[in-house]
Amino acid sequence: MTFLTRTWTCFFVCCFLSSSVLPVTSQTVVQAPQAHSSQKEEYALFRAENSEWKFNHLAVDHRNGNVYLGAVNRIYKLSPSLEVQLSHETGPDEDNHECYPPRIVQPCSEPLTLTNNVNKMLLIDYRENRLLACGSLYQGICKLLRLDDLFKLGEPFHKKEHYLSGANQSGTVFGVIVSYGNASPDMLFVATAVDGKPEYFPTISSRKLARNSEEDGMFAYVFHDEFVASMIKIPSDTFTVIPDFDIYYIYGFASGNFVYFLTLQPEMGSGPTTGSSSTGREQVYTSKIVRLCKSDPAFNSYVEVPIGCVSGNVEYRLLEAAYLSKAGSILARSLDVAPDDDVLFAVFSKGQKRHLHQSMEDSALCVFSLRKINEKIKERLQSCYKGEGTLDLAWLKVKDISCSSALLTIDDDFCGLDMNAPLGVSEMVRGKPLYTDAFDKMTSVIAYVYKNHSLVFVGTKGGQLKK
Ligand SMILES: *[C@@H]1O[C@H](CO)[C@@H](O)[C@H](O)[C@H]1NC(C)=O
Ligand SMILES: *[C@@H]1O[C@H](CO)[C@@H](O)[C@H](O)[C@H]1NC(C)=O
Repeated sequence: MTFLTRTWTCFFVCCFLSSSVLPVTSQTVVQAPQAHSSQKEEYALFRAENSEWKFNHLAVDHRNGNVYLGAVNRIYKLSPSLEVQLSHETGPDEDNHECYPPRIVQPCSEPLTLTNNVNKMLLIDYRENRLLACGSLYQGICKLLRLDDLFKLGEPFHKKEHYLSGANQSGTVFGVIVSYGNASPDMLFVATAVDGKPEYFPTISSRKLARNSEEDGMFAYVFHDEFVASMIKIPSDTFTVIPDFDIYYIYGFASGNFVYFLTLQPEMGSGPTTGSSSTGREQVYTSKIVRLCKSDPAFNSYVEVPIGCVSGNVEYRLLEAAYLSKAGSILARSLDVAPDDDVLFAVFSKGQKRHLHQSMEDSALCVFSLRKINEKIKERLQSCYKGEGTLDLAWLKVKDISCSSALLTIDDDFCGLDMNAPLGVSEMVRGKPLYTDAFDKMTSVIAYVYKNHSLVFVGTKGGQLKK
């Protein structure tokens, strides 16, 4: 029994370590199981000094197990057993959400008040041994902190592209660092809610991640000229249809030649659009996976596909959390993929309406084969380049633009042209439902392969961890 418990503890820690970034929502406590000689399980515990400083993000250095926590007003460095080693202050500070750009660049006439800094993104840059920590203050600026001692290496704020977005909720931004080898600098794909300011902030962009944290070109767009840029902006027309339109980025990752983001966004043209206040109407949401080529400075490769899950005639279409893992040989057999193939575990809650006041507890855990999503995208690209259908992305105002035909071969790694882009897929890709729970909503997920089996852990709103 003791042996079994220890084995489980050990693998829990391994799984914990192998995950580089996890969102931590609405918690002020982090626990790690300890291998102990007693039969009773004991947990190391870390609590912030102020119970209102909620923890927003967690990043674990896979080389040594050190834990970095992005909280409201603080970044913490903890040992693998959760002893505090360092803390770095990020707020509160004098700010006003309406000030743009911040007063450092241009004076703001709005009254400034002491405002909390919510951590919105926490990424480990392994190549440069630094932490990228972006907050909600001053329209979303970032700090680059040395992993060893949290020394501030840089905090770029003098250019427009240094402001990522002013949204002050956690769970609105996701970043993916992409490496091209030693010859060229890394790139940072940033995807963010724009919080009503589509003219200032692109919803997705790729940025230069300079090796020198103080370099002028830090976070500059990978490409930008008069006509083409490595970014996607939400057109302001979209906001005349849905005034509080935004795209929420729940998860992101790189796989093969592509970068992917998982989003939750209002569905255009589905709900009442006129004569109703934004508080009274019930907006319909949809979950989508977005794919871009890693090396596509013009963003012609942008494709969006709706995802969801159906279990027992119930539709689950509101994405809560997701995690990329390998299939492992047993799951691979039932999904008809290879054991080394990437699979995506995703948690959805029921329906398509986010209820502001009463919460919907019914949720489902589903698995997707990334290979099948890529095949669906390839089929759609092929049909669009035969001139079939429209670009079909209502929020990008290209819904009614017809696909144009062109004679070319579209293979797995096709990265788009300056025609037929960006492209939407209308048919939803369904995940395979694995588990549903109608009473305690699943809100987080992590997975790994152990002896050919897939192990999945889900965290629930009620504070349960399920294996
Ligand atoms: C976010 O901003 C809004 C409006 O500025 C404010 O009401 C809310 O309290 C802020 N939330 C947090 C977590 O700071
Ligand atoms: C895992 O699967 C492979 C191939 O199916 C097999 O050769 C191997 O013995 C399996 N390992 C375990 C631990 O079951």
